[in-house]
Amino acid sequence: MRKNIQAVNEKIQITNEEIDEAINKTKDIVKKSKWALKYHIMPETGWLNDPNGLCYFKGEYHVFYQYCPFDAKGGLKFWAHYKSVDLVTWDNLGIALYPDSESDRDGVYSGSALVEGEELYLFYTGNVREEGNYDYVLTGRQQNVICVKSVDGINFGEKKILLTNLDFPENFTLHVRDPKVWKENNNYYMVLGGRGKDNKGYVLLYESEDLMKWKLHSIPAGGVESLGYMWECPDFFNLEEKDILFISPQGIPAKGELYNNIYQSGYIIGSFHGDKDNFNFKEFIELDRGFDFYAPQTFKDNSGRRIMIAWMGLPDVTEYINPTIENSWQHTLTIPRELFIENEKLVQRPVSEMKKLRKKHIAFKTCINGDKVYSELKGQVFELKMDIEKLAGDFQLIMREDCKLTYILEEKMFKLSLGKSGYGRKNRSVKLDKLTSLWIFSDTSSLEIFINSGQEVFTTRFYGSDEEQGVKVNCNGIVSIDKWDL
Ligand code: FRU
Repeated sequence: MRKNIQAVNEKIQITNEEIDEAINKTKDIVKKSKWALKYHIMPETGWLNDPNGLCYFKGEYHVFYQYCPFDAKGGLKFWAHYKSVDLVTWDNLGIALYPDSESDRDGVYSGSALVEGEELYLFYTGNVREEGNYDYVLTGRQQNVICVKSVDGINFGEKKILLTNLDFPENFTLHVRDPKVWKENNNYYMVLGGRGKDNKGYVLLYESEDLMKWKLHSIPAGGVESLGYMWECPDFFNLEEKDILFISPQGIPAKGELYNNIYQSGYIIGSFHGDKDNFNFKEFIELDRGFDFYAPQTFKDNSGRRIMIAWMGLPDVTEYINPTIENSWQHTLTIPRELFIENEKLVQRPVSEMKKLRKKHIAFKTCINGDKVYSELKGQVFELKMDIEKLAGDFQLIMREDCKLTYILEEKMFKLSLGKSGYGRKNRSVKLDKLTSLWIFSDTSSLEIFINSGQEVFTTRFYGSDEEQGVKVNCNGIVSIDKWDL
């Protein structure tokens, strides 16, 4: 099964042994690097992007991700693999899928998992770039939907091609990818993201009775002028009786505090009206307001929870960087978050298992009138919860040297501002009617900030020193604080 890797367009030929050797040579540098994360899924060496194949299978959680082992700046994509019994302690299982066939030779691109009986199915896009003078949008690219199966969740069998370019509608470019598969009423469905020849983003819906033969059902959503030219990584699911579509569109221009990242990731609450021909919806809402969030994927676990993990990073960014590249790695996944619907909006909260990571605890309630510095809240790797009552006026919190969280009451705006520790990341904000709580997960080089119990979230890489004085708060109000070292 593990053959030589042949990336035809890059003219590289590397054996699996050579890949293992390269990883072994660099993995200690990565592990010991200053910014290595303590409780996030990060690459052993090299580059990580989208989470793939999230599932709960035979009593264990599986997370795969887009992986380029040899280059921290990205390149040929593999699927790497972690598993866990509790969503917080992860076993690294190395590379699960290699770009070792003619149909995926230029990348085992993103996809999803489906558990069916005793078997785990993975579906992904096999990327092929023909050699020659092509634009790779209308010509020169193959996007094959491929399936592999496993009974132990670790070893995967033969690659079976399910769909090729010929199965995609005429009015589409060759950008059609990222299959997300689910089962409903004894039928199987697959959504793919695509770019129409009209340069608008779309979702394509395929259906199957046996997981092997697929036919186009409909193009249920897309063609919206204001929502970009390409929709990547779609996900579709039902939560609390609402139909929800996730898309990661490219090409939405920034508008005030909205859409400030190079590409967006967001959700749409809509309805399929039974026949699944048309996904009716009104609004696309960004899932995260920070600098580093893309290509989220969800799955339902055995207790019925809808859990989301995203890539804490973005492709093609030039305005900010990650100093981890100097230590031969880049990017991480977010912590797993459970999804809920509250007041017709999607809300995200860290899964309850995160409590297992809690170590030393500090708790107090304090009345603040002006500036206060809490040296006991110093640290880099922690969980911090703040409930804010009787807030009269603005609120500001400064932590880890130069990360500022500010709520401006008059503007009803919440802002995240980073100084030099942002490595080019400066300001992001979101409209917020009132501020009642902050829930912060800080790791060596990341921050995930849940506002008002997950009503809004800011996710960012951040390289703040550990020499800060503590957490500084400026407000007029009563604050209850819980902090755990993690
Ligand atoms: C999103 C994406 C996917 C693609 C994968 C390749 O970040 O561009 O559309 O399958 O990354 O790594």
